[in-house]
Amino acid sequence: MILGQIMPDSMRRRTISHRPATFHKRDLHAVVSGVRGDIRFNAPLREYTSFRIGGPADVLVTPAEEADLCRLVRQSRVAKIPIFVLGGTNLLVRDKGIRGVVVSLAKLTAVKDDGDSVVYAEGGVGMPTLMRHAIGRSLSGLEWAAGIPGTVAGCVIMNAGTRLGQMQDVVKAVRVVDAAGRIVEWPASSIRFSYRRARLPRGVIAGVWLQLKPASRERIQTVVKDYLAYRKATQPLTLPNAGCVFKNPGRETAGRLIEAAGLKGLRVGDAHVSEKHANFIVNRGRARAADVIALIKKVGRTVETQTGVTLELELKIVGQP
Ligand code: EPU
Repeated sequence: MILGQIMPDSMRRRTISHRPATFHKRDLHAVVSGVRGDIRFNAPLREYTSFRIGGPADVLVTPAEEADLCRLVRQSRVAKIPIFVLGGTNLLVRDKGIRGVVVSLAKLTAVKDDGDSVVYAEGGVGMPTLMRHAIGRSLSGLEWAAGIPGTVAGCVIMNAGTRLGQMQDVVKAVRVVDAAGRIVEWPASSIRFSYRRARLPRGVIAGVWLQLKPASRERIQTVVKDYLAYRKATQPLTLPNAGCVFKNPGRETAGRLIEAAGLKGLRVGDAHVSEKHANFIVNRGRARAADVIALIKKVGRTVETQTGVTLELELKIVGQP
């Protein structure tokens, strides 16, 4: 079977695309040949996203080590098959899934100290793990991320952040597998960070150096504890979701605007605007991506009509339309 793929803008940034994006499904076997790790064909991505939504990946690869990631990238370039790196938390994967290779960094989970309050984390390290490491070393700088479930690589790409801070504040450098499958290291100055967005030289983030600073462990723990409690009280963390759906427009907050428009509880299928925080959509069972997209459109249109504010998506929507 020949598969064609046109990548939407939202996907391009985390994709190493090799033109032409048309390939034979059997070429997928060549792409994963010799790559150690988990390899799953027709992998239902709903099992790998925080939203519990998403169609299949042609093949989902979880490389065992950085060298396997390099090999995978190299072989995909030879076969001209696109690669998409699955972040999984601020993401909606469409119902038809993702063509080509989807990579999970879930096995790249090493964390080590690298002198002078610098911590190096491989791309697949979860933010909660990283935070525990920092607390254990009495290092401050990640408190803002308390409760963010994503990987450190995903958080760099998104320039994830909260009221207390953002990724940009702590990234010192990144280690990237470039389109040719080579390791390249880029200082933070080569990354263009903006609100919930980072533009870096093309590639897959294999690891991140974070510049933290020494502080009292008790103080760090207090901030983290208070912040976690705040999020638990104000966000629907017990239901599958993908974090905030819209960016905050200027000084306003999307949550306040959506609530003021009377949209809390609005639903399409099993996709509901959260009653707890209006800028969250929750999956109350078997929501499809199409339901979420229809709901997003309704919310966007209503807020625009009522307030004149056009909400911009924070959530990344990827996959075959
Ligand atoms: N608000 C409402 N109704 C709602 C939700 C919020 O009126 O349904 C009001 C609150 O009462 C408050 C204000 O909006 O006065 C701000 O709410 P909140 O503190 O929850 O912050 P937010 O601006 O809605 C931001 C980030 C969150 C992050 C929280 C907590 C964005 C788009 N959102 O939300 O990040 O967790 O602060 O720091 O930047 C995410 O990025 O995925 C995310 C959830």
